[in-house]
Amino acid sequence: MYSEKVMEHFQNPRNVGEIENASGVGTVGNAKCGDIMRIYLDIDENRIIRDVKFKTFGCGAAVATSSMATELVKGKTIEEAMKVTNRAVMEALDGLPPVKVHCSLLAEEAIHAALWDYAEKHGIKIEGLEKPKSDIHEGEEEEEEEY
Ligand code: FES
Repeated sequence: MYSEKVMEHFQNPRNVGEIENASGVGTVGNAKCGDIMRIYLDIDENRIIRDVKFKTFGCGAAVATSSMATELVKGKTIEEAMKVTNRAVMEALDGLPPVKVHCSLLAEEAIHAALWDYAEKHGIKIEGLEKPKSDIHEGEEEEEEEY
């Protein structure tokens, strides 16, 4: 069901932990499953992500996607990090089962929330970045309604 890469990142997740005095911190949750993700970013004066860490109270797919997402944004500029979508993360992991696609959104949304926090603290605007939602399913209720 899971690719080897997903299993490998789940068993040996990269960048787990927290960063003290992080430049930006973002926390998002998924009300459907109750899973929570927090991302810490350390961003230098050249807008490069020097370090990134994550903590999650989430499923295996959330752990694997966050591990891969942190690897993909580390050492990148803010603008490059904005291009790391959940789709890019899933591709890097050789795919996820369809029922687990929503788990990959936690990492993307948490990175965006951390970038938003950074932008607010520094009074800057990041192209294409929108105010984070606290629940990644906000506004999607209708399609997901089950009877
Ligand atoms: Fe909740 Fe995967 S089941 S994030």
